[in-house]
Amino acid sequence: MGTINRQLILKSRPKGLIAPGDLQLVEAPLSELKDGQALAKVKYLSIDPTMRVWMVVDTYLPAVAIGDVMRAFGFAEIIESRHSDYKKGDRVTGLTGLQEYVIIDDSGKRSFQKVPKIPFVSDTVFLGVLGINGLTAFFGMEIAQPKKGETLVVSAAAGATGSIAGQIGKIQGCRVIGIAGSDEKCAWLTKDLGFDAAVNYKGSDWKQKLAEATPNGIDIDFENVGGEIMHAVLDRMNIFGRVVLCGLISGYTKADPSLASFGTVLVKRLRVQGFIIIDYVSRFMEAATQLGQWKMLGKLKDRETIVEGLEKAPDAINMLFTGGNIGKLIVKV
Ligand SMILES: NC(=O)c1ccc[n+]([C@@H]2O[C@H](COP(=O)([O-])OP(=O)(O)OC[C@H]3O[C@@H](n4cnc5c(N)ncnc54)[C@H](OP(=O)(O)O)[C@@H]3O)[C@@H](O)[C@H]2O)c1
Repeated sequence: MGTINRQLILKSRPKGLIAPGDLQLVEAPLSELKDGQALAKVKYLSIDPTMRVWMVVDTYLPAVAIGDVMRAFGFAEIIESRHSDYKKGDRVTGLTGLQEYVIIDDSGKRSFQKVPKIPFVSDTVFLGVLGINGLTAFFGMEIAQPKKGETLVVSAAAGATGSIAGQIGKIQGCRVIGIAGSDEKCAWLTKDLGFDAAVNYKGSDWKQKLAEATPNGIDIDFENVGGEIMHAVLDRMNIFGRVVLCGLISGYTKADPSLASFGTVLVKRLRVQGFIIIDYVSRFMEAATQLGQWKMLGKLKDRETIVEGLEKAPDAINMLFTGGNIGKLIVKV
């Protein structure tokens, strides 16, 4: 076939942020397609905090092996097919890896879902609001069981998942407070997304501001960050509150992430539930339909930060940990 595939290979396990050389760009010739295979061109890559975890430790998925193509979720288009389920032009999402082309087959290593072409809807929504982040926000808020008038606090609120979770909280009648890392992000949350208040945790008086924004305490913590932010939120929880443990990003680049304050969980009789979105695969269509309706009705707004070029993916992953993104972070291949 003669086509060259550019790929990012995991060369060494990062300590802290990803350093030059942890991921190495290589060129490999694509092998001839066999019966039962389809070749897809990767168009967009979803940049997710969990990728930094996959680079180092076994969790709900095994760590990426040294020398393997770095695992990543992406959007791709079938350009050639010898697989009965796919035809040229089909669009799919799934674990494409950080590379330009992916061969899809039934080996079980990769599972892909076809996505429709919807007029006036960009392909990238299938990685964000109608993809993993929207679905995570949706099921996380289902776990939260919000009641009208309750106070919901969302951390990493201006990110892909947090921004949708907070808006779902508004749809469900909560008072919603976001915690984010810049005044620009906080202004987006309150002025554009309808959050009731937003607190910049980089300000010296942010805990005071959080207290002012939650005069009746906090009923639901949609936790994306962990560490000091989570402790400050737990301190303000009302008894019988709910903590939806979605992510702990402040610990992902540390060798020894700090653990939750279980004393507060006990004394306040909190219900804490962690969850991983892959447990909900059988309900993805139901959730995506609801998210799509809210988006069409203008009840859900989304925003993207797009970085151009596969070779920029390592820098893009680091942006998640330095707060360089607003909304969904995507690499355009
Ligand atoms: N459970 C699941 O199945 C599931 C699925 C998807 C995502 N998640 C989790 O959801 C969380 C958000 O993921 P996402 O993909 O939507 O990313 P994101 O929120 O779009 O990006 C990450 C954001 O986290 C904030 N952040 C990074 N380090 C921080 C720190 N030390 N302290 C405070 N804030 C920090 C940054 O914003 P600031 O400028 O505000 O600092 C950054 O923009 C992550 O914890 C992720 O692991 C879980």
